[in-house]
Amino acid sequence: MSKSVVVLGTQWGDEGKGKIVDLLTESASAVVRFQGGNNAGHTLVVNNKKTILHLIPSGILRRNVKCIIGNGVVVSLDGICKEINELENSGLSVLDRLYLGSACPLILPYHSLLDEVREKRLGEKKIGTTGRGIGPAYEDKIARRSIRLSDLNRESLFREKLEKNLELYNFMFNKFFGVKRIELSQVYNDTLEKAQLIKPLITDTVSLLHQTLSNGGNLLLEGAQGCLLDVDHGTYPFVTSSNTTIGAAMCGTGISPFDLSGIVGITKAYTTRVGSGPFPTELDDDIGAHIAKKGAEFGATTGRARRCGWLDAVALRRVCRMNGITSLCVTKLDVLDGMTQIKVCTKYRGLEESSDFPQDAEDYDDVIPEYEELDGWTAPTSGLRDFEQLPSQARLYLQKISELAEVEIGLVSTGPERDETIILNSPFK
Ligand code: GDP
Ligand code: IMO
Ligand code: MG
Repeated sequence: MSKSVVVLGTQWGDEGKGKIVDLLTESASAVVRFQGGNNAGHTLVVNNKKTILHLIPSGILRRNVKCIIGNGVVVSLDGICKEINELENSGLSVLDRLYLGSACPLILPYHSLLDEVREKRLGEKKIGTTGRGIGPAYEDKIARRSIRLSDLNRESLFREKLEKNLELYNFMFNKFFGVKRIELSQVYNDTLEKAQLIKPLITDTVSLLHQTLSNGGNLLLEGAQGCLLDVDHGTYPFVTSSNTTIGAAMCGTGISPFDLSGIVGITKAYTTRVGSGPFPTELDDDIGAHIAKKGAEFGATTGRARRCGWLDAVALRRVCRMNGITSLCVTKLDVLDGMTQIKVCTKYRGLEESSDFPQDAEDYDDVIPEYEELDGWTAPTSGLRDFEQLPSQARLYLQKISELAEVEIGLVSTGPERDETIILNSPFK
């Protein structure tokens, strides 16, 4: 029987989803992205060769695997064409096994421009978006005025919709933001020209997924961002504009929850965040700087420095419950090698009603994290593939994470390479 496994980021993104998806794809027929867009940056390292993917699913390095972009993803033609060309030029076949959902909303130049001018206007209060036009593209989807991939095959209707949208956007650009208008003919011509490459890939991905399942193929559903960036459940308004939690894996693909056999939650052994917003366990000191340096914590999409801090088990437990995480994967354990002491946040103080995760960014001002302290380890874990070889303190730390999250650990990552991984329990087994 076929198995479908979802991989979700349990923090604020960049947990190492790409690495783990690439690893697990060994057992999958297809990998599918279901939300977000090219705001994601997923890093794969195989035999020392680094590949960073933004839109193309992290199964692409396995030559027999189909890569599918589900209807829930917002698609930038610039982004997807660039990625296809780069991968094809490196000798990898992409066009013969990449499929794009016909209902995917397009990210058009007016979305990226709005993202940019809005952030500028917010000044110090900016969200710190990736500037890819993700928010505005999802706004159009909810407002029912998206131009979707399927519209690229209906040129006069495409032009009509574009004209209508530009009326609205140019009014905003001109009257509210005081920036130059965007010309219809330019967007129309550019978009149709770029569309030539990907038009043959547009398909009913829902049927394709159902067929794959009926044929006994395993599916891997690849989350982007992290659950704390979820538009409904994250640190609003410092979130992304899609749902990043488990429901999105269903909505954004069109497969049934009953098809799922496992939900893997990825967490770093510590926490990072890129962009603005609350971060109770943030370390604004030498330890934070040490983690950032050792973990090479720079964004895979924008190159921005990531903020670093201790693992937040209050948030992790909530995310595990909310998503029905069946197995945890702890990444970047090696980054903590050599630290004398490791802390994990077990409780929030300072909140009036509950000690759980506040719903609004404003409510974080009073949060004081309470920590449990554990011994660190001196022997390196870097590159280890056998659980028994881990120093006893590292094993105790993993056990603590598992207890606090109330979920078993199935995988531990000890380096960026595909095989620098300890597999305790594979989700496809
Ligand atoms: P994603 O967005 O969740 O796919 O994660 P990113 O690719 O944005 O960031 C994770 C970074 O950590 C990448 O540079 C990975 O190569 C790297 N990485 C992943 N797992 C490990 C690990 O276990 N140890 C170390 N040192 N690096 C890792
Ligand atoms: P992956 O898939 C980390 C963050 C941005 C910003 C907020 C909103 O690589 O884990 P957006 O451009 O989405 O409107 O920005 O969300 N963000 C991410 N942070 N990893 C990501 O993706 C992210 N995608 C968006 O930094 O704070
Ligand atoms: Mg990333």
